[in-house]
Amino acid sequence: MSQERDPELEAYRNRALEELSRVGSEQLLEEWYRRHLSPSGSLVGWRRSIGKAPPERRKEVGRAINEVADELNRAFAARREVVELQAIEERLRQSGVDVTLPARAQAQGGLHPSTQALREIQSVFALLGFVPFESPHVELDDYNFGLLNMAPDHPARDMQDTFYVSKDVLMRTHTSSGQVRALQKYCPAPVRIILPGLCYRHENITTRSEIQFHQVEGLLVGPDVRMSDLKGVLLFFVRQMFGENQAIRLRGSYFPFTEPSVEIDIRCTLCAGDGCRVCKQTGWLELLGAGLVHPRVLANGGYDPKVHRGIAFGLGVERLLMLRHGIRDIRLFFENDLRFLEQFA
Ligand code: PHE
Repeated sequence: MSQERDPELEAYRNRALEELSRVGSEQLLEEWYRRHLSPSGSLVGWRRSIGKAPPERRKEVGRAINEVADELNRAFAARREVVELQAIEERLRQSGVDVTLPARAQAQGGLHPSTQALREIQSVFALLGFVPFESPHVELDDYNFGLLNMAPDHPARDMQDTFYVSKDVLMRTHTSSGQVRALQKYCPAPVRIILPGLCYRHENITTRSEIQFHQVEGLLVGPDVRMSDLKGVLLFFVRQMFGENQAIRLRGSYFPFTEPSVEIDIRCTLCAGDGCRVCKQTGWLELLGAGLVHPRVLANGGYDPKVHRGIAFGLGVERLLMLRHGIRDIRLFFENDLRFLEQFA
């Protein structure tokens, strides 16, 4: 059909397309549109010329003009895309943004290793039905010492150097301060609580001791509770935290608020029990203190020690993490050095 096209129309088409191919800006594009496709553009003139053609050719002339109009419209749309893209690229170049640069990694926060461990420990004991219990960090002397069978002149108070707020108020030195609070809350029902939190001691800060640290206290009281429960609960816990092959050892110890008292050791995490420098060739590492709740503590909580028995244990969270990960310095937990913290993220 284009062979039969009017040579003048053909020449116009070629000129318009050629002009368009040189259009390099949005402004020139607009001018081209006005010249050719707008209501005042050349194509309108061409359409008017249809009427001047002999009647038998009008249809053919009209179709040829429509073809050219379609072609110019399509070419315009394609050119506009190119020009707009170029304009965007030019703006980006001028703004100095390099869109090909890889995105910068976002620094993501994470929970502190002690917090992670507290939650993990709580979830292990939750499997055994232990429910969370909270008690104050700023505590009465009575709950931290007196009701735990430590009279004011009890020598055991020297074991724990205390930050006093006033004569009768102190920063709790252990989570055992929550034991009698829990007993008083639940009495006379059975008790099965887990009590996590910070403790405070007036210590010289060294690789092995800090003035603050986390403990998790466990307390289980009922009519039928005994030492084998303590062993079973703690063996379950240790295997969840350190692996199914772990073993525990109970060693006689002394705490004023438990009788008998024990310390629980686990197989050395470094030498697996063969004996090394860390475990001083014993093959065992001390993990936590525990025992049967002292009858006087039960009575202070409102329970009849002839009917009820209890087991209690207190676990140092940073100490557990140090054993599990071979960390040699407890101060790392409180210095907020990202090189340390990020290893637990
Ligand atoms: N409160 C003791 C401590 O801080 C640990 C402990 C808790 C011991 C419960 C026996 C029973 O060392």
